[in-house]
Amino acid sequence: MYLKPVIAANWKLNHGPTDARAFLQRFLAQSPKQNDRTVIFFPSALTVTTVMDGLKDRPDLWVGVQNVHSEAQGAFTGENSVLMARDIGARVVLVGHSERRHVFGETDAMTTRKMALISQARLIPMLCVGETLEEREGGHTAAVVERQLTAGLAELDDAQVAAIMLAYEPVWAIGTGRTATPEDASEIHGVLRQALASRVGDKVAAGIPILYGGSVNRGNAAQLLAAPDVDGLLVGGASLDADSWASIVRA
Ligand code: PGA
Repeated sequence: MYLKPVIAANWKLNHGPTDARAFLQRFLAQSPKQNDRTVIFFPSALTVTTVMDGLKDRPDLWVGVQNVHSEAQGAFTGENSVLMARDIGARVVLVGHSERRHVFGETDAMTTRKMALISQARLIPMLCVGETLEEREGGHTAAVVERQLTAGLAELDDAQVAAIMLAYEPVWAIGTGRTATPEDASEIHGVLRQALASRVGDKVAAGIPILYGGSVNRGNAAQLLAAPDVDGLLVGGASLDADSWASIVRA
């Protein structure tokens, strides 16, 4: 079982096995075990085994995958499946990351399918939701994240909903250096918490980790983590450097 806060590194299309080995050596040298949080690495699928080998003595450091296909197996050249993710020992799978949605055209219907498959495989899906700048400026943020959440939960039973993780990642904040303020993050996390509560009740909703992501760095991590309703961080760019990531996981 994980502990909150949950602090996750999304390496995206960076760090092959050779880089990952060097990264882990430097990161582990300055990162003793912490008993009050869970840290997750999302390397590229081709780097997962290397990262798992490097972390085998550190049960506090988990490994997940960045994506799986919306079918469990079959003629889908180039894809990775949830069954393979489970087989390799991954524990968490990102679903509906902004780049999947906006660069690769992932639809709400695909996130519905993926959330169901991942839950059935007893891995933890981490559903990512977030609005574009245009949607924010149009006043549609709450409606957009609620729609994405509803789609993600559509095929889950209540026990499966209780086992998910959620990440609020405003699209305009990802990789832009423009971070949501802790107040902005808290406000939308509150909207998501409320939506979860109306599905599974207050008590269960309170237990579901809601991470913030979007230009988190070592300078703003502690402040974001301290904001009400923020249960963790999902970090892209600033997780690529071992020193920077080591300081964020201590935040
Ligand atoms: P960023 O990416 O920290 O580089 O903004 C976050 C993410 O995409 O998960």
